[in-house]
This record gives sequence, structure tokens and C-alpha cells, in this order.
Amino acid sequence: MITGISILAEKFNFMNILIINIKSLVQVEDNPVDFVEGHKMSALKTLDNAFLFISNGFIESFGPMSGLKEFQRSGTFSSVQFELLDAIGKLVFPSFCDSHTHLVYAGSREIEYIDKIRGLSYEEIARRGGGILNSARLLHETSEESLYRQSLERINEIISLGTGAVEIKSGYGLNTEDELKMLRVIRRLKETTPVTIRSTFLGAHAVPEEFKGKQRDFIDLIINEMIPQVASDELADFIDVFCDKGFFTIEDTERILMAGMKYGLRAKIHANELDFSGGIQAGVKYNALSVDHLEYTGDREIACLLDSGTMPTLLPGAAFFLGMIDPPARKMIDAGLPICLASDFNPGSSPSGNMKFIMSLGCVKLRLLPEEVINAVTINGAYAMGISDTHGSIARGKVANIFITKPVPSIEYLPYAYGSNLVDTVILNGMLIQ
Ligand code: NIG
Ligand code: FE
Repeated sequence: MITGISILAEKFNFMNILIINIKSLVQVEDNPVDFVEGHKMSALKTLDNAFLFISNGFIESFGPMSGLKEFQRSGTFSSVQFELLDAIGKLVFPSFCDSHTHLVYAGSREIEYIDKIRGLSYEEIARRGGGILNSARLLHETSEESLYRQSLERINEIISLGTGAVEIKSGYGLNTEDELKMLRVIRRLKETTPVTIRSTFLGAHAVPEEFKGKQRDFIDLIINEMIPQVASDELADFIDVFCDKGFFTIEDTERILMAGMKYGLRAKIHANELDFSGGIQAGVKYNALSVDHLEYTGDREIACLLDSGTMPTLLPGAAFFLGMIDPPARKMIDAGLPICLASDFNPGSSPSGNMKFIMSLGCVKLRLLPEEVINAVTINGAYAMGISDTHGSIARGKVANIFITKPVPSIEYLPYAYGSNLVDTVILNGMLIQ
């Protein structure tokens, strides 16, 4: 398969970049791990007054400035051409890994936002044919080219805000043709943008109008027609189901996950946003890579997630925007669980992909420490999209996806200054993007 990176590598020459005088190099790993959990989430390894050397798209070396001369004399470095960046007073972070978005969509839904302000709930709006069905109508009327252009603008925006890897779901098609259209747009974004993208087939996002009262027939369509086509065109990495009150049941979810597994599609599911739906248990049972939302999480759900390999992923942008209850994040970490935070970027419940603001919500609303939210949006985000061996931290041999901040007083200043864009320079796949 041709990847975005290889197309871009042909277009531009990869460059070598040496960054010096870094005030703090954040999320450094000498012995990379897949994710961090429990009390380890409050530890964040940093290197003060550091250098970072990037070569041919990858992190080649880093260390204290006091070791730079020695590195420069070494074989790997001596004769190479490089771009020199001085990061005095600035921090260097691994790019955010946003493991849950719906950023391929048509138009916007600010009218429903007003309905919400007037007091209608998310479920009431959905029952009136608004919500996801509204986006599905808009998407149906939008050409594939226009859908690509609209989505590209969102990708460019999140790149400028520090995101270097993003998972994107289908789910506004709700029929085979339109679901495939969405997934083709995601594939085109993979091929034409420098951000790392993973794609998820979410056929079971809502029951379309024409299947009202015939939900089982819609599931049959997903299983017998959509999944085989998605798989044969290699359009998805993962499979998702909105397993919640008023949407899809545990039985629906299990049928769909089993069908997906036959084609090697690992689950990442929407669970327990609106109720104790049993979605968390279903996700763990089918070895989901992540279960996402989790506003309704109790002791049983926590016990089930422990040692499961399924990443609990919280989406505080959605709870914030819809004015819903927050998941018990503190309790989950204290019980020993890992936590991932993602944006849920979508037109209905979280119309923003700003991961720095997600960190602020993690601190303010979920009572997480800055170190915990940074782990949640980097290495744990990478795990939740199956890329933690190549992304999510500053480690030798990982993909050079990083951002340099503006001059800031401390690491904590990032979630604290919640409204400021503090991302200055963006490097993706070792290329200077901004
Ligand atoms: O993650 N919960 C389900 N799906 C999306 C919302 C999609 C929409 O309202 O358009 C979510 O919040
Ligand atoms: Fe979502």
C-alpha cells in the first residue's frame, strides 16, 4: 500500500534537523513502553537544556546540551547537512495522538447547538431526526471532492494545534455507498497529508430513517454488505459501534464485532456515554483496543478493564459541550488503569480538535495532573490507535512527529493557559511543516 509518508517523501526531500538549547524535552523514553497506567501516569520523563537530532524522518538522537559536542564528533553526525533550530526558552513535545475523531463530515450543526442551549438533550435532538441523521443527510448531498476539501481544512487546523496522529471514523454515511465515500476521503487524507492517520469503520453509528423499527435488518446490511466491501477495499484499520442507550444494543454490538474480527478489524467502540450500557464489558470481551467515552463507569466496569489491554479513552470535549456528567477519571487511575484522552472532533458533540484544550479539560474537569494529561494525549493516545511502537514519545527510532512551543515558563503552563495557542513550530515525519 502506498502511504502518505512515501508520497510526501517523493515530493519533498526528507531533511535532517538539529534542535538545540531546548528548555525541556518532554516525554523522553530510553526504554519505550506501550502505555502508562495507574500511579505511573503522574511520572513524566523530561530532559532540561537538551538537543534533539532528527534524520530522514526519524528521531535519531537526543541528550543534554553538554553532550552535543561529543555527538557532533560521532560517525552518525559528522558529515550530514542539517537545518539548525534554536529552541531557547521553548519546550519540545511529541505531537499529540488524537485517537478518536469523526473529522470527516459535511457542513456543521450550530443550529442544534442553539436547541441544546434552549434545553433539548442530545437524545431528544437525535429522536427528532437531528444529530447524526442530520449530518448523514448533509454528507449524502456533498460531493466526495468537497468532503475531502472540508476535511483537509480541519486536518490543517489540528496540525497547527500540535496533533501529529489522528484516528478518523466513518459513520455519517449509514448506507454502503456513503460509508465507502467517507472511508475513501480518509484514505485520500492519509495519502496527501503529513499527519499519521488510522481509519475506523463505524457503520453502526445511528439507525437510518428507512430502517426505523427494522434495526436487525440494518445490522444485517452492515455485516453482509458493508464490512466485506470495506475489508476488500482495505479501507479501515478498526471497527466501531455506538453501543449505548437508544442506539445499538449489546447483542447488535457483539454481532458486528464478531463480523469485523473475521476480517481482522480490531474493535474501538463508543461505550457508556449515555448509560451503564454494558458496552465496556462487551469491548473487553472482544479484546477491543479501546473503549471510548465512559461517562457511566462504576466499580464493575473498572474491575473489568483492569489488565485487559483495552485502553479506557475519555472524551472530555463531548461531556463539556453537551453539559453531561464527567467520567470518574481520578478513580480509574487510582484503581491502576491507564487513561487516554481524545478530542472526539465531530459536528454534534465536540466541534473542536484542539488537544491542548482537551488537556485543560482533563485537568480542570477530570482532576488529572498535567503529567497525567500529557501521558494521556501522547503515549496512551498512540496505544489507543495501535501506533505506540512508532509514535507518542521522544525515543530513538520513533517517527519524528514533534512540536516546539512558544517561549513558556513551564510544562504546566500548557494546560493552564487554556485559550492560547502555544504551538510554534511543527515537524511531522521529520519535515518542517510550520
Ligand atoms: O462520539 N456518540 C456518538 N457519536 C459522536 C457524536 C456524533 C454526532 O453527534 O455527530 C460522539 O459523541
Ligand atoms: Fe465519538
